[in-house]
Amino acid sequence: MRKQIAAANWKMNLTLEQGEALLNDLLAIPHTLTENQEVVFGIPFPYLTSIKTKLAGKTNIYVAAQNCSNKRSGAYTGETSVEMLKSIGVDYVIIGHSERREYFNETNAMLAEKVNLCFEYGLKPIFCCGEALEIREAGTQNSFVENQLIESLFHLSAEQLTGFVIAYEPIWAIGTGKTATSEQAQEMHAHIRAVLTTKYGSAIANSISILYGGSVKAANAKEIFGQPDVDGGLVGGASLIAEEFAAIINSLK
Ligand code: 13P
Repeated sequence: MRKQIAAANWKMNLTLEQGEALLNDLLAIPHTLTENQEVVFGIPFPYLTSIKTKLAGKTNIYVAAQNCSNKRSGAYTGETSVEMLKSIGVDYVIIGHSERREYFNETNAMLAEKVNLCFEYGLKPIFCCGEALEIREAGTQNSFVENQLIESLFHLSAEQLTGFVIAYEPIWAIGTGKTATSEQAQEMHAHIRAVLTTKYGSAIANSISILYGGSVKAANAKEIFGQPDVDGGLVGGASLIAEEFAAIINSLK
């Protein structure tokens, strides 16, 4: 059975002190993780080492960087390489978040380069895809998301793709309080899995966790995660509130 994952994306929020206090509060709330469930904290670069240390020994709890460079190494001031992240024990990296695509002009081709480096260094990508409101309104969201997958992931072999996580985040639902309905989420997740099946076969497609992101909160997590092709969530705003995120973790299948 594929992994069920509650992933926090703190984005550019919280000081180190605030982040540590949030984790203390969260870990103090009873939550149970089965063997098949994971919690991932997508935190700012400067806190990766200290928070990784803080979480040491906790079963099925991991840290993710929110980005990585598409360059291997060298004269790229301000960039952080996949190799650097691996060297400090980071487990996952969020790749292609819509905010990075929109504000930092990340293209599908650049994301393909990042994904290649992740495979090479053994860092697990949480690969984000999802359409803007105009595309949803035009009814072309399925082919749009399919194209994102084709251009950034489909050069990989089935073996290379194993262990990757995909996050479907409709841009119109991010930070807006306007969640996709559970039917809309399931429809797109089933489409993504069908596209993966066509390319890689059903064994690989069924092993890949597909997370939903976009205004997930305690009040809607159970219904969304209850859909057959939704394997958890990538959570922004609600991951900054200990009680909310604890309830989201407890909503995993
Ligand atoms: P919100 O949960 O704040 O809508 O953010 C979703 C997101 O972008 C997670 O990566």
